[in-house]
Amino acid sequence: MPNSIISIKNLYKSFGSHHVLRDFSMNLEEGENVVIMGKSGSGKSVMIKCLVGLESYDAGTIDIMGKNINNLSEDEWDDLRTEVGFLFQGSALYDSMTVRENLEFPLRRHTKKFGEIEDTTPYVMEALENVGLGHTTELMPNELSGGMKRRIALARTLILKPRIILYDEPTTGLDPITSKEILILIKSIQSKYKTSSIIITHDVDCARFISNRMILLIDGKNYAEGTYEELSQQKDPNIKAFFKM
Ligand SMILES: Nc1ncnc2c1ncn2[C@@H]1O[C@H](COP(=O)(O)OP(=O)(O)O)[C@@H](O)[C@H]1O
Ligand SMILES: [Mg+2]
Repeated sequence: MPNSIISIKNLYKSFGSHHVLRDFSMNLEEGENVVIMGKSGSGKSVMIKCLVGLESYDAGTIDIMGKNINNLSEDEWDDLRTEVGFLFQGSALYDSMTVRENLEFPLRRHTKKFGEIEDTTPYVMEALENVGLGHTTELMPNELSGGMKRRIALARTLILKPRIILYDEPTTGLDPITSKEILILIKSIQSKYKTSSIIITHDVDCARFISNRMILLIDGKNYAEGTYEELSQQKDPNIKAFFKM
């Protein structure tokens, strides 16, 4: 059994009397794309936020690259953040910064991994070319389409060369063609950089296209997991509900 790059065991998270995650467990193996599907409000974003330390949890353990994240110092969190890229729901670019400045921002923050970089241009250009937007360095976010913003956000994540990328609804709000382009990009990043990813979506076509494995988050739990083919053939109505008629 290889060591999982992420291991979540028996995670619980409530907001007051609202029990969102109730004994949720999953592993992410090196190099795989795992898609998590669940209804709106089922706790997908909460789960990802627990993973990156944006949300606390009530019980359970989360190990990332062999470290229990509950015991990390601020310094260790900083190191981990260069290895775990997180693409928020929406793009969350800094509106007052150019594309170049948006991409430089994480590089300048995480000097430990890269040292003090005098000329960021090669880093910025490599990241932008990976998303097909090498010509946009001096544009402002409000000059970009929704799909371009999403790509720039992805480039900003890639610039740190993370081993893990977490995507929260990467195609939501995009038209079908642009969505497909983003999915192709996510796949090409997986094969080029050998990243391991968790991708949250409620789009079953996205799941089929991009996942090596799927997990259904139902009632706060890992209700079922398997390949798209395996899950799409299940008779259980809770599982069937995710797949097309
Ligand atoms: N900070 C918060 N305070 C209270 N309730 C929250 C908070 N964050 C999320 N929730 C609730 O937790 C549930 C799961 O949210 P979320 O993980 O965002 O759902 P989704 O699966 O659509 O991403 C929702 O009912 C949401 O209202
Ligand atoms: Mg969400």
